[in-house]
Amino acid sequence: MPNIGYLNGQFMPLEQVQVSVEDRGYQFGDGVYEVIRTYRGHPFGLEEHVARLERSARELHIPLSLSKQEWFSAILKGIQQSGYESAKVYIQITRGTAPRNHQFSSSLTPTILITIREMPEFDMASYVRGVQVITVPDIRWGRCDIKSLNLLPNVLAKQQAAEAGAFEAIFVRDGFVTEGASSNVMIVNENMVSSPELNHQVLAGVTLQFVMRIARANGYDVHERSFHVEELATADEVFLVGTTIEVLPVTQVNHSKVGLGLPGPVAGSFMTSFSAAIEEMGPLGLK
Ligand code: PDD
Repeated sequence: MPNIGYLNGQFMPLEQVQVSVEDRGYQFGDGVYEVIRTYRGHPFGLEEHVARLERSARELHIPLSLSKQEWFSAILKGIQQSGYESAKVYIQITRGTAPRNHQFSSSLTPTILITIREMPEFDMASYVRGVQVITVPDIRWGRCDIKSLNLLPNVLAKQQAAEAGAFEAIFVRDGFVTEGASSNVMIVNENMVSSPELNHQVLAGVTLQFVMRIARANGYDVHERSFHVEELATADEVFLVGTTIEVLPVTQVNHSKVGLGLPGPVAGSFMTSFSAAIEEMGPLGLK
């Protein structure tokens, strides 16, 4: 089976999916999304991703007609139809279609899109060597906890990173690290593992929260605390976490080495625990 699309209740080959130019997703980026990945055909963190999708939609007053169970069954059916063991499931909900007008009617019917494609293999060398990042000013809006379609600052930051030969751009607001353009950031100092406070300026990553659980289970002191950009340079380890990258060591920030400039043992051990959890994962995701 090819890449699969699901539009408003109907499955079809992805290339047949068509959405109106008057869709508010196209006109205003007025919508929300999620990215879920499958391992051996099982979605990682299905419940957590659907819960975050529902929350994002609720925060933007986009009404959802699907129950949790209906989301699960649509996503699982799509994965099954695709036949992919390792798939990237993209879910997008927009407020719906209407002649362009900033103001919206509460009676619009949201457009629900799911796409399922094969997940490209991630470059193993990046885990072995670590990646470079740059820091950029966080010019995003005040509700980055909502996974909205509006990604212009993220798009520009990622492009800037790529042009600088870096893998990711890390946003910095008022001197403090918030997150990456499409990932969360964690640092390690001796036995302490820190993630920036999960407030309105940061997306509460499904992977991040899972890695925090792994860290606690392995006896680390885990803190949600805002940390200054300068701590990236002085930390024992820095790593990125996210759906497509899992736990990825950062070895250079703005062309300066983190520690010895090599991936650290803590990131490595979290990645090992992460892989072990995936091996045990069932059809509905994490336990
Ligand atoms: N992005 N922060 C931002 C800004 C993100 O876009 C993402 C993920 C994360 C990590 O969240 P999670 O662990 O739940 O994937 C953090 C997805 C993968 C994307 O936009 O493609």
